[in-house]
Amino acid sequence: MSRQLHVALCYGTRPQTIKASILRSALGALARVTAVDSGQHYDYALNELLYRQLGVAPADHYLGVGSGSHATQTAAILLRMEPLLSELSPDAVAVIGDTNSTLGCALAAAKLRIPVVHVEAGLRAHDRLMAEEINRRTTDSIAGLLCTPSRSATDRLRVERPDAVVCETGDVARDVLVSQLPGLPSPAAVSPAAQTPYIFATFHRAELVDQPEVLRGLLEEVSRLPVPTILALHPRTRRALDAAGLTHAGRGQMQIIPAVGYLESLAMTRGASLVLTDSGGLQREAYWLGVPCVTLRAETEWDETIQLGANTLVPPCDVAGRLGPVVGRLLQGAHPGWDRNAYGDGHAADRVADATVDWLK
Ligand code: UD1
Repeated sequence: MSRQLHVALCYGTRPQTIKASILRSALGALARVTAVDSGQHYDYALNELLYRQLGVAPADHYLGVGSGSHATQTAAILLRMEPLLSELSPDAVAVIGDTNSTLGCALAAAKLRIPVVHVEAGLRAHDRLMAEEINRRTTDSIAGLLCTPSRSATDRLRVERPDAVVCETGDVARDVLVSQLPGLPSPAAVSPAAQTPYIFATFHRAELVDQPEVLRGLLEEVSRLPVPTILALHPRTRRALDAAGLTHAGRGQMQIIPAVGYLESLAMTRGASLVLTDSGGLQREAYWLGVPCVTLRAETEWDETIQLGANTLVPPCDVAGRLGPVVGRLLQGAHPGWDRNAYGDGHAADRVADATVDWLK
């Protein structure tokens, strides 16, 4: 009998824990899986609650790296991954997305000559110095199996990495969403403010929350939107509000609620008239759920959502002049719906598992 393949599945932030939940069972059907949580996200709503909601067993190894500067965080992951991988000696290391955990784990594996599988490979933004862009380009350049969410990512990697195996699997985030839809709570159970039409908002990126005047201006614009906005606070945004003394600033039509769990976030998105975000995950969840999205960034890696008319960009520097009119137009216009299959059919995790096993054999 042939030896069972062994894959170390590495993750560490909220969106990765969500995707790892389904990858772990898909890979586990074909190989031995060791789950490694870097601990980049550790707050209850960002981490523990997810394990509970998605019914995931605790990770086999928890590295506890926590927060820090990019260098501190990435270096801590490298330092803790190297001895662990040396001891585990897996046949492959699977990493997801574009966070510091993705890069740290991929780099530690590649330096030990352990084959790397990159899930959610081939996405690109124009800003090459954005932390996530550095992480994803570097990971794409050292992985041997590149699992892509879309045709455009596949085409790009076939040019960039003719030496690697590129497999168009679709987006595992859709698999998780599809599996969780039947059990979602009602929006009103998440926030009483969700009993009338509302906009659901989240934002946490440095360019929106780290400068107090930008954050203040954004909150002012949001509080003047024509439909009440429910803003779920990422811990980073909560800290920024506290640090800038904005915790109790005038809110008008806006209501702030603490960070919500994954199921609550899906429920709030599904019930919303519009989603306002800077999160890549929420852009796609709104797209799959048929809810118009406004993304508070100058660009998105998820181009197809723009091309299909599901998503509209408002760059942080244009919030003052554009946010109100864009939101007003989207709320008034009857949107015709869009093709929801740009990122696969909801069976991506099984394809990642099949591709990994085929590649290793
Ligand atoms: C990280 C990812 C980003 C992803 C996001 C998902 C990188 C470079 N960025 O951003 O791509 O979209 O996760 O949420 O890896 N904090 C807490 N509690 C936590 C974790 C963080 O309070 O459990 C606060 C800390 O103040 C920390 C800050 O959030 O310094 C930033 O956390 P970090 O993990 O560096 O990046 P995110 O902004 O969460």
